[in-house]
Amino acid sequence: MLRTILVTTVCATLAAPSLAACTLSQLQDITASYVTAQSSGKLPALASGAAYTENFQAADISTGVLTKPLVISHNRSLHDTVACATFTELIAPNNSPPYVLGSQIRLTDDGTKIKSIDSIITTNGDWLFNATGTLYWSQQEDLKAGWEVIPEEKRDTREVIQAAADAYFDLFDDHSVVVPWGTPCDRLEGGLYTGTGSETDSCNLGVPDGISIVNRRYVVDETVGSVDVFVNFGGASGNPDSHNFRIVDGKIRYVHTMTFGQIED
Ligand SMILES: *[C@@H]1O[C@H](CO)[C@@H](O)[C@H](O)[C@H]1NC(C)=O
Ligand SMILES: *[C@@H]1O[C@H](CO)[C@@H](O)[C@H](O)[C@H]1NC(C)=O
Repeated sequence: MLRTILVTTVCATLAAPSLAACTLSQLQDITASYVTAQSSGKLPALASGAAYTENFQAADISTGVLTKPLVISHNRSLHDTVACATFTELIAPNNSPPYVLGSQIRLTDDGTKIKSIDSIITTNGDWLFNATGTLYWSQQEDLKAGWEVIPEEKRDTREVIQAAADAYFDLFDDHSVVVPWGTPCDRLEGGLYTGTGSETDSCNLGVPDGISIVNRRYVVDETVGSVDVFVNFGGASGNPDSHNFRIVDGKIRYVHTMTFGQIED
């Protein structure tokens, strides 16, 4: 009897998955069901009392963008097993009207239900919006396996990935911050590409000064070296904005942004 208990305990300890709060497959189910929901207009299952925002404003999910079936041309998701959260980027240039959407979804601690969905919804008239361009450049990056899974032994830690994103944001308020720029590096800002896709593209092209980037909410996925951050761009009431970073060997290689509203020059 005692022996059975001991054996059971040891096995349970060995089998326990690190400190992960949610499993990858639970999170993958959520992002798959979210993409299906947005392309069919049928809502995904939510925990009771789930929170829903569009461009950082509380909104009614039953009349929101999720109830509109969209023609989606490209989707990519991050899965954060520690924070029990996901991020999905949807590019829909062939929808009428065209959209580029980013959604952070947070789950209940057991990973089974959606606790909140926060979406940034960009369309014609938003800052640098051009969904055709967003799709084109995303596909160019796919051709270079730009956002593929990184072999386990080469992955950066969550801390390194998040620190690279934070350094980038901090630069907008303090030009002495050292940002870990990689090469090549490209910024896809709305539908505008800062490079040409060449091996020498640089992201270190200068940024404005005096812009604080606050209310940072992270979804980190070490398997693809990525972090998406929802922020207010330009102080507490600044534009709702998503920055999705690809980090390799601690250095920034790609940044995808979507920004709701207009930014004054
Ligand atoms: C989302 O992306 C996956 C893999 O990239 C693809 O298999 C799937 O068809 C896409 N879904 C939609 C609705 O575009
Ligand atoms: C949008 O992007 C596409 C692809 O890069 C480009 O051909 C087109 O000129 C852009 N449209 C505008 C209005 O900038």
